[in-house]
Amino acid sequence: MQYYLKMADEYGKKEGAAVEAIHNIEFVNVSVVKEEKYILKNVSFKIGSGEKIAMVGPSGAGKSTILRVLLKLEECSEGKIIINGIHNLRDIDTKKWRHAIGALLQKNTLFNESIEYNLDIFHSWNKEGGKSLLKKLNLGKFSDQMDMVVGSSVQKISGGERQRLCIVQMLTKNNEALILDEPTSALDEDSEASVMEYLFREMYGDKIILYTTHRLRTLAYADKVLFVYEGRIHDFAGHQELMLKNDQYKYFIQAEDAKNEIKK
Ligand SMILES: Nc1ncnc2c1ncn2[C@@H]1O[C@H](COP(=O)(O)OP(=O)(O)OP(=O)(O)O)[C@@H](O)[C@H]1O
Ligand SMILES: [Mg+2]
Repeated sequence: MQYYLKMADEYGKKEGAAVEAIHNIEFVNVSVVKEEKYILKNVSFKIGSGEKIAMVGPSGAGKSTILRVLLKLEECSEGKIIINGIHNLRDIDTKKWRHAIGALLQKNTLFNESIEYNLDIFHSWNKEGGKSLLKKLNLGKFSDQMDMVVGSSVQKISGGERQRLCIVQMLTKNNEALILDEPTSALDEDSEASVMEYLFREMYGDKIILYTTHRLRTLAYADKVLFVYEGRIHDFAGHQELMLKNDQYKYFIQAEDAKNEIKK
């Protein structure tokens, strides 16, 4: 099923051209200024059709801000984001844009309501399809407990289960691209591998996925890596290429690796 984005004209009144799918996304000199400080400075990069792009960089570098601007949760102070080479994201209807994009934010939240309610927030929950999604994400045991209340204050489910439920919630609608902030941060190694395999290879193999990660194993799924450093794009290339040519990237990755080893 194709999802159509209606474009608003420059006055935001009439509906204009339709975009059938998201083929590419281009940031052109995007800056974000908060409290007179540049959080992002001249960020430019282009994502091509079906590409999987990882974003890495130190905490506070601006990764989530890049995702937030793309979700129209934050405005560009300078620059623009161009979709499919012609449409300025600013002119695209916000509600329709968000509906066309599957998003997982860093602080994933479920409503303090039943599992069924949480999985039906986009009103596209199909019980049978949904149950097989739950099974795929290793949450099959919840198929018979759809009236169980979940939410941030509920301790009955683990952090990993909560994160996987948020992923199922995102997958209950038709998405033209995915934007994921630390999608596997609460998952163990096995769960991480199966979630990445399912999302990146099986389900969204032909669509754009932009994701942030501190989990180095997930870089294996990226065509290219955006190295974000102090609000700027320090480099943009394949992981192996960056390891060879960019010392700062190499040191960053080695330090992250050491941190991950300590946590084990
Ligand atoms: N509303 C705001 N007002 C002022 N500063 C902000 C605001 N939102 C974010 N920042 C700052 O912008 C910077 C970038 O934040 P961002 O959340 O994008 O970092 P990040 O790279 O995602 O970090 P992490 O890896 O910890 O998630 C941080 O220094 C943060 O404190
Ligand atoms: Mg972040």
